[in-house]
Amino acid sequence: MAKDLSFTCSECGAAYSKWSGQCDACQSWNTISENKALASGPKGKSLGALRGKPIPLIDLDTHEPEPPRTQAGVAELDRVLGGGLVKASALLVGGDPGIGKSTLLLQAAARFARNGLKVIYISGEESTAQVQMRARRLGLEKSPVRLAAETNLRDILTTLEAEKPDLAIIDSIQTMWADHVDSAPGSVSQVRASAHELTTFAKRNGMSVVMVGHVTKDGSIAGPRVVEHMVDTVLYFEGERGHQFRILRAVKNRFGPADEIGVFEMTGKGLAEVKNPSALFLSERGAPAPGSVVFAGIEGTRPMLCEIQALVAPSPHSQPRRSVVGWDGGRLAMILAVLESRCGVPFTGLDVYLNVAGGLRISEPAADLAVAAALVSAREDAAVPSDAVIFGEISLSGALRPVVQTENRLKEAEKLGFTSAITPQQAKQVAVKGINLRQAHDLAAF
Ligand code: TYD
Ligand code: MG
Repeated sequence: MAKDLSFTCSECGAAYSKWSGQCDACQSWNTISENKALASGPKGKSLGALRGKPIPLIDLDTHEPEPPRTQAGVAELDRVLGGGLVKASALLVGGDPGIGKSTLLLQAAARFARNGLKVIYISGEESTAQVQMRARRLGLEKSPVRLAAETNLRDILTTLEAEKPDLAIIDSIQTMWADHVDSAPGSVSQVRASAHELTTFAKRNGMSVVMVGHVTKDGSIAGPRVVEHMVDTVLYFEGERGHQFRILRAVKNRFGPADEIGVFEMTGKGLAEVKNPSALFLSERGAPAPGSVVFAGIEGTRPMLCEIQALVAPSPHSQPRRSVVGWDGGRLAMILAVLESRCGVPFTGLDVYLNVAGGLRISEPAADLAVAAALVSAREDAAVPSDAVIFGEISLSGALRPVVQTENRLKEAEKLGFTSAITPQQAKQVAVKGINLRQAHDLAAF
């Protein structure tokens, strides 16, 4: 028989069969409590009804039409959604507090309302007057979106039952409070119960629900990712504070490609879409300078150019600094080690700073070669030709590995006026008119 795990830690969500004072998983004290049933199930019955009866795969109607979608009419948002909002889907929009989630969703709500959906925006953080004030600032005061300020889940579900909207926006899931769960709003059990009830309600009533989730200090939504697996689509809204660029990234999407991004700019009148992100990310680039390199990356399905900057300086410390913004620190250490041991370019006694301009965050290994070029350029105090883009993966041996979508990267570079590219040698040659290729099998060859 399966173990009855009816106790849960409200900090990390770990499940236990009995109560204890400290959670073994996250070491928190006094966070374990007994779960209350989420909804009333069949009681006193040993067997359920014969629902969920399996049917042969071959009998399934394979001509199921594409799910109906509504577009917002904002290309950056529709692309991230996989082509528009799917009817009866559940979404989670996560991000740091203050990054602009409420602004984004209020603007999206107005767009969907204009395109025929009945939309309710429920705020648990602000009063309706405050939301209205924000709407006025965004120029949306005439929008047919309906507003409510409420945190009691039971009341919200009753309202939704009566109003029957096509789309409900819950801002935020951490403020929701389900009265059948015995813990404070924002705790894992509350967030899980609220998200579960809302998602189930949405599926049953053909309504779409968007839940806002604040990211906690360790980078996950509401402690452990308790909500992510319940919903169809998980979007993250990210950006660096002090930069006006914001990126909406699909990290999970049952109805479209994951890893797709939409780029926005925070202005005095809310978020504006950025149609040509490459031009924007390169717009701050000055005269050719040592340590500055243009990387031709791919974000989702779209090529995107951005500037990678490195600074290398003699270190006053016995332990030289390695500081990275917008890229992986471990990956930087690896590139430094490869440059040192395979190419004879030592960085001992030198502080190394690496920055991806514009607040963009890159996760592609294809940036390796651009990072290596920026580091060497900074160290040698010699500028990389400003008409060149660089990309390619570097292996531990110093060998260069070709990356996906070479042609798309080169085409984007050509569109923005670049005339040459430094890339790994390809098995199958790709040529783009107007771009001079400089290729090698090995990092040491450059
Ligand atoms: P908000 O949407 O409240 O963030 P979140 O819901 O993620 O916590 O956005 C807050 C920030 O956005 C705030 O610092 C002010 C800024 N902002 C603008 O710059 N322009 C605007 O038009 C609006 C509405 C907000
Ligand atoms: Mg908010």
